[in-house]
Order: sequence, then C-alpha cells, then structure tokens
Amino acid sequence: MKYGYFDDANREYVITNPQTPYPWINYLGNDDFFSLTSNTGGGYTFYKDAKFRRLTRYRYNNVPVDNGGKYFYIKDGDTVWSPGWKPVKTPLDSYECRHGMSYSKIKGAKNGVEAEVLQFIPLGFWGEVLKIQLKNNGTEAKKLKLFSFIEWCLWNAEDDNANFQRNFSTGEVEIENSVIYHKTEFKERRNHYAFYSVNAPIQGYDTDRETFLGLYNDFDRPDAVMEGKPRNTHAHGWSPIASHYIEVELQPGEAKDFVFMLGYVEVTPEDKWESKSIINKRPAKAMIAKFDTTEKVMAAYNELRAYWDNLLGKISIKSNDERLDRMVNIWNQYQCMVTFNMSRSASFFESGIGRGMGFRDSNQDLIGFVHQIPARARERIFDIASTQFEDGSCYHQYQPLTKKGNAAIGGDFNDDPLWLILSTTEYIKETGDFSLLDEMVPFDNDETKAKTHFEHLKISFYFTVNNLGPHGLPLIGRADWNDCLNLNCFSSDPNESFQTTGNKKGRTAESLMIAGLFVVYGREFIKLCKQIGKHDEAAEAQKHVDAMVEAVKAHGWDGEWYLRAYDYFGRKVGSNENEESKIFIESQGWCTMAEIGKEEGMVKKSLDSVKERLDCKYGIVLNNPAFTKYYIEYGEISTYPAGYKENAGIFCHNNPWIMIGETMIGRGDQAYEYYTKIAPAFLEEISDLHKVEPYVYCQMIAGKDAFKPGEGKNSWLSGTAAWNFYTIVQYILGVKPDYNGLSINPCIPAEWDGFEMTREFRGAQYKIAVKNPDHVSKGVKQVIVNGAPIEGNVVPMLEAGKTHNVEVIMG
Ligand code: BGC
Ligand code: NOJ
Repeated sequence: MKYGYFDDANREYVITNPQTPYPWINYLGNDDFFSLTSNTGGGYTFYKDAKFRRLTRYRYNNVPVDNGGKYFYIKDGDTVWSPGWKPVKTPLDSYECRHGMSYSKIKGAKNGVEAEVLQFIPLGFWGEVLKIQLKNNGTEAKKLKLFSFIEWCLWNAEDDNANFQRNFSTGEVEIENSVIYHKTEFKERRNHYAFYSVNAPIQGYDTDRETFLGLYNDFDRPDAVMEGKPRNTHAHGWSPIASHYIEVELQPGEAKDFVFMLGYVEVTPEDKWESKSIINKRPAKAMIAKFDTTEKVMAAYNELRAYWDNLLGKISIKSNDERLDRMVNIWNQYQCMVTFNMSRSASFFESGIGRGMGFRDSNQDLIGFVHQIPARARERIFDIASTQFEDGSCYHQYQPLTKKGNAAIGGDFNDDPLWLILSTTEYIKETGDFSLLDEMVPFDNDETKAKTHFEHLKISFYFTVNNLGPHGLPLIGRADWNDCLNLNCFSSDPNESFQTTGNKKGRTAESLMIAGLFVVYGREFIKLCKQIGKHDEAAEAQKHVDAMVEAVKAHGWDGEWYLRAYDYFGRKVGSNENEESKIFIESQGWCTMAEIGKEEGMVKKSLDSVKERLDCKYGIVLNNPAFTKYYIEYGEISTYPAGYKENAGIFCHNNPWIMIGETMIGRGDQAYEYYTKIAPAFLEEISDLHKVEPYVYCQMIAGKDAFKPGEGKNSWLSGTAAWNFYTIVQYILGVKPDYNGLSINPCIPAEWDGFEMTREFRGAQYKIAVKNPDHVSKGVKQVIVNGAPIEGNVVPMLEAGKTHNVEVIMG
C-alpha cells in the first residue's frame, strides 16, 4: 500500500495520508541551522549541533510516537484542528504533506477552511520561517482563533532530558510585542538566545507550558486552545514554551498569511544587554525584518529552490525506469547532502545526543556529495583529518560544534584511517585540485603538530602496514567497518559498552575486510603518488599492497568465499568450519572490489556464494547463518536477534560493495537486481511492510532470519546513501571521474537499450548518450566525442563553459 506519490517535476514526495507507517520526515537547512520535520509537524531545531545547541524540545521513543514539534491549532467555533492532523488528530477534510528539497509544505482543510504551512530555512540564515496561510473556501465569513506552539529545549539536549532538579528552575523568557524570547542561562555563560515571532499583532500569548496545556493534558487538547483563551503567562522555570494567539476574520474566498520565525541569535559578551536583565534584541529584530512579508518569504523560498536546481543539475540521467531516474536525479543526491550536514547525529533514530560526525562515516559520505559542493567537501576533508592522531589512528567521531574528537564514543577502529584516502582521491578526481595535498593539517586538532595533508594520507596507509597480525593481515583493533565485530572485547558485563571496552591486547585478531580495503585504497594511494611524481613512494607502497594480496590468497580464502577474520585465538571467522555465520558480506565486497585472486576464480566464486547464501527477497544479508547465541569472543554482533542489524540484517550500506564486485566481472543484470532490491523508490508499493520513507534509504532492512523480513529501520543517516549513489552512477551506469578525464564503462542489464546522462565535470557539461545495440552488459566498442571517435573509453577534459556531446556504443 502507498501513502502518497512522487511528484518528480517538483522534486517532492507527496504524502496523502497522515497516518504513515512511521513518521516520514524531511530535513530543513543547508549550512549552520537545521530542523527535522515530520509529515505531521513533529520534529525539532538546532544550531550546528543537535546535542549542544538544541532550540526546541523533542521526545524520542514517546507514546504516542512523534510527540512535540512546531504546532498550529485552529479553533473554528467548537472545532479544533491542526493542519498536519497532529497533535489534535481531528479528522481532516483533506490533508497533504509535500516534502521537497529542504522545505516542507503541509496543507490541511476542515469545515471550509484551508491552512497551508510552508516551512524552510532561508540560505545562510539562522532561523526557520513558517508561513501559514489561512483561507476561507466557504460561503460564510469565518472567525478563527489561531494558536502557535513550540516548546523550548534548555539548549543542551542531553542535560535537558535528565537534569530536572536544576532545569525546572532555570527557564527564562521575555515577551515583547509579537515576539517571545527564550533566554535560559543567558545571564550566565551563554551568549545566545532564541526567539519565536510572528509578523502580525497578537491578541495573547503563553510561555508556561503547564498553564497552556493543563498539567494532565497531552498536546492534543491544550486548555487554552480548547477554551479559546490564551492565559498570557510568563514562564519562570518549569517548561517554557512559545505560543502566539491571533484572532483571524476571513470573508468568503479570503486568504491571510502569517509569517512565523524561529530564530537563533549569538551576541558578543559586551553586547548582551539592552538594560538591566533585558536582552539585546537588535539582532533578532533585524532577522525578523528580513522576512516579515509574504513577498520576502517567497523570494527566499525561490532562492532555495534555485539553489537545489543548481545542485541537482550537476548529474542527471534519463533511463527507461522513472524510479531509477528519481533515485539518481533527486532523492539519492538529496540524502547524500543530508548525510553531509548530519553525518550520524540527528534523525528520528539518532537522538542527536549520541553520535556526531564519524571519521569513517563522513569520509565515505563525501563520495556522494563531492560533485555538488566541492569547496565544502575540501573543508570537510581537513576537519576530519585534523582529528587524526600522529600514528594514523583516529577519534572515531567528532562533535560538529567544536570539531574536536570525542573519545567517549570509542576508538581503535582499525579501518578508520584508510577512508581518508577514499575521500581525498575522489575529491581530487572530481575537481583536479591537487593543492589540498600541500596544506598543513593538524593532528588531534593541535596546530603545532601539523603536517601536510599528503603526510596524513601516507600515515593512514602505513597505519595498516604497521599493524599487521600473525598472517600478515590487518589487525582489526576494536572492530573494522562492522562496529559490532568486537574481537578483542570479551565483555561479560552488561553495563559495559562494546564501543569502549577492550579487554584484550589485540595483536592477533585480523580482518579480511580491512585487507580488501587496504588493497583498494592502497592502490589509490599508489596511483596518486604517481600522479604527483612521487615514484619512489609509489614503488614502496606497491610492495605492501602486493604482500597483502598474497596474504589474502594464502590465508584469507576459505574455498568458496573469503574468510571474514581471525579471532583473538587465531581461529577462523566466517568459514565453512564455523557452526554459525559461515560467510560474511564485508570481505566478499572488499576482496572482490580489490579483485584479489580473480584469475584463480576467487572473485566469481565469492560472488556466487553471496548469491547462494546471503541474497534474499529484500536484499543481501550481512552474514549467514545468523548468530543465535552470544559469543563473548565476537562481541556486539552476536547480541542482536537473528536477522537484525549487524547480525544477518540487510545492512544496506554494504550491498553496493557486492554490486561493484559484480561489475568487476561484468554481471550487470545481477548488479542492477541488487540495486533495485534496496532502492527506496522501488519499495514504495510495500510501504506497509517497509515502514520507513520510500524516498530515502534506511540503514537496515530486516533479513531473512528476522521475525519480519523486509521491515526497514533507521532511515536517512547511513553510508548507504553515498555508496548506492556512487555505485549506480560510477559502476553500473559507469561514468567515473578520473585524474585525466571521465572514464565511461557501464555495466548494465543486457536488455537495456542504453541511457542518457548529463554530467558537469570540471566546468564543462558532458551530454552522454550510451547505446547498447548488441544488448551486452559490459564493454565499450566506441566513444565518439563531439562527432569524432576517440581512443579508449576515457573522455579527456574538454573546454569548460561548453556542452560536449559524447556518444558511447557498447558491444
Ligand atoms: C551500529 C550499531 C551499534 C552502534 C554502537 C553502529 O554503528 O550500526 O549496530 O549498535 O554502532 O554504537
Ligand atoms: C553504522 C556506523 O555509523 C558505521 O560507522 C558502521 O560502519 C556501520 N554502522 C556498521 O557497523
């Protein structure tokens, strides 16, 4: 069953039933200021960091789900309703939520009145605009009472959730005209406040939650709204809110707009006060003035739309499947930008107080957005590299506000450093900008320890070389890409975290996933060295890569597939000899991508084993058979029930590794079949089962051993977004930036007649038409550039500022 439809022309998903199987959300904001917003108006707002600077409150894991947001209540006679259905849940005469590129529009109608809320964060602005239009579609004049509602978070979201003995006494507000200011802790160490305004006179307000709602009421029937009477409360402690009350009279056919703004202000310590205890409101007033009319709001909205037209204009395709087109042209790219902004910090599954920017995560995310925002990608690479240690190891994550490593989340994930080679080389191939290699980049954010970025890459490469185990394979450390394969943890205490506990020294357990990863990005390191004339460096590195290939062939092959690891005791993990989890996906992905043992048939055998043992109706599971009991020597992976998460769930992040592996041996049909199994637009019809948004990838779909195979969880913030985009565009459609041009080598289903792609590359437009007259999956017979055939399949860099026609004949 579907709950809406794709409106591709507007780049929107249109939800037509508010009772989606889970809240279906969108992200607003593109630089420093962000909101999460659900299809019923739930969600919250923060400045830069969802933990340290949260403006409004949100209740995770609440009953009912999705409680708290930016609500509007409309009282029309005795009927009270909300345009997004929630929180009041009065049945609406019509409802529609359009989630678009960084904006959402929610429209509801009841008893002849239509209310449409347009929500977005203007570019470069530290405030969210909510324009509500009320329209009388009936034949009689209407007298309506409009109430707004938000609940302030006392800034630090973690503390706000826990430290009630203090928090119930600290809340402070000011009210001036139509603006409610939130100034908790402003008088001490905070040089920031927030405000909620409306561009019209108000006839009342409330700032004390309990008086507004009634102590024992939910958000669905606030006392003040039900009685149609604001209490004009001034909050002192407890839970401050902001609610405006406006009386609206509408003649038949008449519409009125109100522009609300939720803003964030930072002031210098000298400039904090207007007078004793009265905050300096000048900056807030200037912000409000910027968008105090519908015209100004719509101009900013159009600017935002143009910004996205430009971003999404850089790569677009036309195939014979609209679901593929909308994934590539719209939603997958959009999700990649959201992972750029959020990494793994704030979603409806990530509370914003747990994780921040992941070292490996943000490096991988970069391959999904580098073509859209290369300058910001460059900055991001330095932010990440600055948190590295001098021996190459890394903080596993850093805080977006401070950009400093956060040791509390854990460390010693031995794959981490290698991902820096991925992000950097992809950045250079996209932009041709080698200059970042010479920039001085600190270690552990300490400028006195800075070295060139190239040195960071070299140190990353040698981190693996310096940390090999008994078989000459990479030591796993706490874990590799699979956070939950904790081979040195040995935890028997449920109060210990698998992410921070390491009970063993860890010089025996080895990872075949890192081995494959090292071969792939080791070769990239070598290629880069050669590009910049460091031939000795390249030759030296080559020896280590060759040795790793040999080590995998000698000690990493199980007969039908690659082993996953050696455990602390030196025993095989992911072998036919094991009782459970005989085969894992990660090492099949990385060792096939690295083409280790291809001539000996290992690559094909490994991929055939994946098909036979890991593939299922809804995607490829991580391991098989699932673990059914806790193995102290394996750690968190065996804590999950069978079929979920890293224990035999379909972990969508790693499925594209297998797709790429398939393209290495030319099996385009198989690669594309795997692609369509997890691509959300292809799952729209099974929304009831899939549960999460049909427009973005989720991290995990329950696997074949699960209670409910096919059920998705943890949508939005996952490496799945970048990897699937990268795979479909660069390996299946096969258009891949390289140092000296655009390489074109598609691996597609044989039945396809071809496809078209427009791609901006180094300032030029490439209009690529791929034709497949012989119905092959792989192989390029001829490439014709602007009418003239070229040698090989790498289209050289062509004149910037122009459009170039590239015809590709497969065969
Ligand atoms: C994994 C989770 C795990 C968590 C621990 C994540 O990367 O996906 O399964 O529980 O790390 O913090
Ligand atoms: C999610 C984490 O963010 C990522 O870093 C990790 O690789 C996967 N889970 C697999 O455990």
